[in-house]
Amino acid sequence: MTQLPGLLDTEAIRKDFPVLDRLVHDDRKLVYLDNAATSQKPRQVLDALSEYYERYNANVHRGVHVLAEEATALYEGARDKVAEFINAPSRDEVIFTKNASESLNLVANMLGWADEPYRVDHETEIVITEMEHHSNIVPWQLLAQRTGAKLKWFGLTDDGRLDLSNIDEIITEKTKIVSFVLVSNILGTVNPVEAIVRRAQEVGALVCIDASQAAPHMPLDVQALQADFVAFTGHKMCGPTGIGVLWGRQELLEDLPPFLGGGEMIETVSMHSSTYAPAPHKFEAGTPPIAQAVGLGAAIDYLNAIGMDKILAHEHALTDYAVRRLAEVPDLRIIGPTTAEDRGAAISFTLGDIHPHDVGQVLDEQGIAVRVGHHCARPVCLRYGIPATTRASFYLYSTPAEIDALVEGLEHVRNFFG
Ligand code: ALA
Repeated sequence: MTQLPGLLDTEAIRKDFPVLDRLVHDDRKLVYLDNAATSQKPRQVLDALSEYYERYNANVHRGVHVLAEEATALYEGARDKVAEFINAPSRDEVIFTKNASESLNLVANMLGWADEPYRVDHETEIVITEMEHHSNIVPWQLLAQRTGAKLKWFGLTDDGRLDLSNIDEIITEKTKIVSFVLVSNILGTVNPVEAIVRRAQEVGALVCIDASQAAPHMPLDVQALQADFVAFTGHKMCGPTGIGVLWGRQELLEDLPPFLGGGEMIETVSMHSSTYAPAPHKFEAGTPPIAQAVGLGAAIDYLNAIGMDKILAHEHALTDYAVRRLAEVPDLRIIGPTTAEDRGAAISFTLGDIHPHDVGQVLDEQGIAVRVGHHCARPVCLRYGIPATTRASFYLYSTPAEIDALVEGLEHVRNFFG
């Protein structure tokens, strides 16, 4: 068995993930390499979810009965866990949403409805990058269309990194918000946050970071990032679907207007007007994803018990091994950084002129789950002149043997298509 320095004890870890024992297509061992799309869930998270429903289920913040109080304590306890996990200065800066897309839409809409000095209007500019997930493109396009603001973006270099050579022309005195991804879901690139934040701060622009592919894989410290907003989702970090997070700086959350109105987010309501609850509740209209937040809290406990620095080291070792092994496959072109330097554990590639959907299907027949397509980052495919990619992505339970299986599987694909 291949041994690499820095690997976790995957034999022990894999016992926590029931689905990893599954066979697919009758007798194929599952090789799950689609972790950038969603991670699998450990028994500890599954148990927390069923325990919540079996023992505590009630609506939060509303009741005076025991279950309502216990459910509220569990939901708010999950907020504490998230705050600690990302080193937020205050738990009130953690807003629960349904996913990272909703978090990013929330930021765009807060700014769209805001008063000065935050308001985005026809005299201002919004900056994103060409490597964003659609969830960090479309909300800004909608905002630009609605307000007349100009949408600008950083382009990409041939090796899959941000081209910051024109940073002073892209981020200007007119820039209101710079929103960019910390780790690309398609290229795997880890972006240079500091350089972008420094320039944004110089011109007084706000910074929003999409950390969806970072929070599951590395220690995340919102204070060190010096951003104003950080968005991520629970289901990629061992948590359930239906729970996302938006962290925002407290002063901003106090000043900015809510987006969704409804129960829970108000202080008082009359037939003429309403006043709002303080953040984070101002941004959590309606019954929140209670069980999902509890599940995310359990996922955070699970990840913390292993250690985010150890998870990062494990994935770095695997990524280094994977890029070296994939380089042995004839006609394989990695789309994105070709070394493990400054890259995460999602590796996109093309294989000669075999369509990625065919690659994915033949791999699937061998039990190997990868994602194919444009990965909700179509501008990246356009930039590199390809219709789609095949993407393999690893997590804390992934092993070198699974990478070997992928490489063998790709040989089989090549033979199959002659
Ligand atoms: N954003 C997820 C991915 O990249 C769904 O696959």
